[in-house]
Amino acid sequence: TGRKRLIAGNWKMNCQRAAALELASSVVELSQASENADLLICVPSIHLADIEKCLQDSQVKLGAQDAHWAESGAYTGETSVSMLEDYRVQYLLVGHSERREMFGDSDERVANKFEAALKNGIKPILCIGESLEQREQGVTLDVLKSQVQAVIDRVGIKAFENAAIAYEPIWAIGTGVTATPEQAQEVHEQLRHWLATHDQAIADGLQILYGGSMNAANAETLLAQPDIDGGLIGGASLKADDFMKIYSVAR
Ligand code: G3H
Repeated sequence: TGRKRLIAGNWKMNCQRAAALELASSVVELSQASENADLLICVPSIHLADIEKCLQDSQVKLGAQDAHWAESGAYTGETSVSMLEDYRVQYLLVGHSERREMFGDSDERVANKFEAALKNGIKPILCIGESLEQREQGVTLDVLKSQVQAVIDRVGIKAFENAAIAYEPIWAIGTGVTATPEQAQEVHEQLRHWLATHDQAIADGLQILYGGSMNAANAETLLAQPDIDGGLIGGASLKADDFMKIYSVAR
């Protein structure tokens, strides 16, 4: 396909300081440079300073899980994208279903965050996904399209040259139920096909990751699909051995 793969860990709200450093060090230790796949960990923001140091001189990339779109201001408790930039954060997750469901991340806010990341030279990973109910109603692709279109309306399709998409069916997140490789491939292919109606070159080059109970045992068949360009891994990214097994399949 010519697309480089991306194996991204999303630690979510896990690991106290010592455990975070230990996990990051193990990932660095076990990592190997690859032409075919990038390796990324998206860590809780409070650990960015420690982990930035830990990743220095390694090929492991650093990502954050969320940020506020404003440059600065009266937003108690928030972290701005420009603050992340100081810690050499290269990627930002935006629109994860947990944020959409629990923290009010509407399509509009997701677009704000996506736009702010790009402005600060950080690559947004736009997370999209349907609920079980939506899948059963047969509206999966409509849901995904509207989530992506909201961002395209803001930044334009060309901006996706510096972004990635993660397809995460909500029913597969943290449940142990993975989409089958065929189910995931079908969605990725349809999504890419629809994106191509906006811009063929962007669609061809865009990394579309799969997320939802990806692990060391199922990664190989998922990553073998032509339109699955990597993974966004939650639970299995908390164990260095499992995470690196997934990476070794990808590279
Ligand atoms: O961002 C990661 C996804 O929510 C997947 O999480 O691998 O624990 O199912 P999971």
